This record gives sequence, structure tokens and C-alpha cells, in this order.
Amino acid sequence: MTVKPGPPRSRLDPEPMPRRDLLGLAAVWTTVSALVFALFGMLRLPKAAVLPSPSKKFRVALPDALAPGEPYVPPGRQVAVFRDAQGVYAISIICTHLGCVVKPTAEGFECPCHGSRFARDGAVTKGPAPRALPWLQVSAAGGRLIVDEGTAAKPGTKVQA
Ligand code: FES
Repeated sequence: MTVKPGPPRSRLDPEPMPRRDLLGLAAVWTTVSALVFALFGMLRLPKAAVLPSPSKKFRVALPDALAPGEPYVPPGRQVAVFRDAQGVYAISIICTHLGCVVKPTAEGFECPCHGSRFARDGAVTKGPAPRALPWLQVSAAGGRLIVDEGTAAKPGTKVQA
């Protein structure tokens, strides 16, 4: 068997790259790519992966039309704020059973997860919730009400506003 010679090569044609050089070049590029990705990964390490949580304290402005004893749930918060003749108070609306957010009802609160019910002062009226909804610290400063979701208050603590 004879090998047919290809078309005659010109002196201006580039040299064909040998297979060994091509594989070597591919290995170099793979190594460089891996090092670059590893470098980016290492540059990301010193940054904190978790951002600090937002403050648990927030200012609240009660609607003027809020009736005494009617809950007001500020948008984005898991707190019900009440105003009555004795003052302003806040109750967490996180169920003490397994942590669902309870919904205000005419009588108080009801948990949509397992049906616990709470009075307007947070007391359990129907299980399975084991404890009352906790009261939260409210303070009045300069005519502004500040609720601290992270600090429990003694039940019955009301602030004049
Ligand atoms: S989480 Fe509310 S009753 Fe279970």
C-alpha cells in the first residue's frame, strides 16, 4: 500500500501543529483556567458569607383610626401592636407551638398551622400551643413608639404614648 502525497505545500503555509504540542497546549490552558478559578474562590473567602440581621427594634406609627384593643401588624413585622386606654403594648404573633405566624381574628389570634387560638392579650385559649404569645418591649421616645422584637416584656406592661 502506498500513501498518496498531498498537494504540494507552499513555503507560506503555516507549519501544521503536531498532536503532542496541541495536547500540551490544552493541558497548559486547563491548568491556567483551574488556577484562575481557584484564585477567584480564594478572593471570596475573607468576605462574610452571612450578613448581619436587621435590627429587631423598629419605630411604629399607629394608624389614627385604630380602635382600642384592635391589633395593628406593621408591614413586614411579626408583631401586633395595640392601643387602649391604659397605653400601647405589643405582642409577638409567632405561634409558641411550632413558629407559624398567627392571624388576627375578632377574638384574638388563630394559628393557621395547627389551630391554636390566643386571646388578644396572647393567652392560649385552645392548644396545642404550650405558652401564651410573648409581650414585647415598647418604649416611647420623643413622641415615637419603638418596639423591640428581640426583648420580651412582662405581660401587662403598657406604655403611655
Ligand atoms: S404552629 Fe401554631 S399551632 Fe402549631
